[in-house]
Amino acid sequence: MSSMNINIPRLRITVYRQVLSPSLQICCRFSSTTTTATATTNTTTQPNIKILDKDYETDQWTNVGPAILSRVPRKLLLQPSHPLSIIKSIIESQFSHKEYTSYNNLSPIVSTYDNFDSLNFPQNHPGRSRTDTYYVNKNTVLRTHTSAHQATAFQNSPTPGYLIAADVYRRDEIDRSHYPAFHQMEGARTWDLNENTDPQELARQIDDLTAKIPRTDIRIVDEKPPFHEGNPKQAHHTDEVCIAVGNHMKRTLENVVTEIFNRASLAAGENASKERLQVRWIDAYFPFTSPSWEMEVFWNGDWLELFGSGVVQQEVFDSAKVKNKVGWAFGLGLERLAMVLFGIPDIRLFWSENPKFLRQFEPGVVSHFKPFSTFEGSTRDISFWLGDSQLHENDFMEIVRNKAGDLVESVELVDKFTNRKTGRTSLCFRINYNAMDRILKRDDVNVLNDQIRSELQARFGVDMR
Ligand code: DAH
Repeated sequence: MSSMNINIPRLRITVYRQVLSPSLQICCRFSSTTTTATATTNTTTQPNIKILDKDYETDQWTNVGPAILSRVPRKLLLQPSHPLSIIKSIIESQFSHKEYTSYNNLSPIVSTYDNFDSLNFPQNHPGRSRTDTYYVNKNTVLRTHTSAHQATAFQNSPTPGYLIAADVYRRDEIDRSHYPAFHQMEGARTWDLNENTDPQELARQIDDLTAKIPRTDIRIVDEKPPFHEGNPKQAHHTDEVCIAVGNHMKRTLENVVTEIFNRASLAAGENASKERLQVRWIDAYFPFTSPSWEMEVFWNGDWLELFGSGVVQQEVFDSAKVKNKVGWAFGLGLERLAMVLFGIPDIRLFWSENPKFLRQFEPGVVSHFKPFSTFEGSTRDISFWLGDSQLHENDFMEIVRNKAGDLVESVELVDKFTNRKTGRTSLCFRINYNAMDRILKRDDVNVLNDQIRSELQARFGVDMR
């Protein structure tokens, strides 16, 4: 019997949030078609693994490999002249230290509880699947988003707000804008709300703070009511508190985005677009906020999804054992924003250790990336009949990553069909090999490609065509 779950999503399905927007997705890029979170075949007994000098037990859930683990110690956000770190610092500069505590060096290894349960993710949420998430073992993962630290930050932050910036990890496709390790920022702001609080008074206080946030001259489209049946407020919040919290968050983030794009216009100089910057707020869904919104910005002819955000769900405070609070939270991905602002064409470049890349940038400045050279790549197709083992698209991606790492620019499923007589399914993946700083020799590509084929046969019992 041939079993598989390789339903290839042509249209990426975001499972942390559900909005139907065809625009570029920056912050939340989980894609999945499976909803099971069970461990499948892993018959090899593995020894413990060491990550950042700590030993971890492995088990049937373990699916972290050398390619992904080699990214963990790099800490790109701690290098001040790295483009990702530049964007992070610009964002941080818009929040006062008195009100927001910054966390920049939290361990990427977190419990499944912190990554999912504390954030109200249902048990059958696709994000929990081994095909989407890197498990160190059953109860431990490489964080898939900075939200994994929300509960601890709400507990420990000495200020009413906090910011978190970190590397995050998700098993994913391979192409110019997806990489299994990427970076996010997260922020939140809370106010006290207990049985003695007069909600109207609290709303007034929040509105006063909102009024102090500098007004921006960008065009803002925010057409939907602040909450409604499809995007409800939480039952224990009054209308005015929910609206005040949402407004404070929206003004805060509008201010941040104005600053970022102003710096980009400065960098573009003469070439800067003369059009007024436009942002729009649209409804969204996250398990950890209600109501929830997303901010998109119109940039170079496209709507670009920037922030996911909303009013923090009471369950998140409850699981953090933080009492009597109301507040907002947001999250954003840094890579695609940096790609747009710095004109960086390939996501692999962020991991480049080539001085020709790194020397181009300086702290605090958004500058346009100058390509050092482009080298022609070469493609190889791998076609095979599936055997008895399950094979998810991301399993294929992982084999490619572990064997060829950053020498692969993209992998695409170019053909899939089932033979009606035999019931067997055939797949063909096209691998585009391309190093960013040299021409790859034909023989070297062949060796890598053969290794990928052998591994595929050994692990998944496929028949090569
Ligand atoms: N963690 C979300 C993701 O990776 C992004 C996010 C959305 C963070 C809304 C938040 C939030 O704090 O309120 O998809």
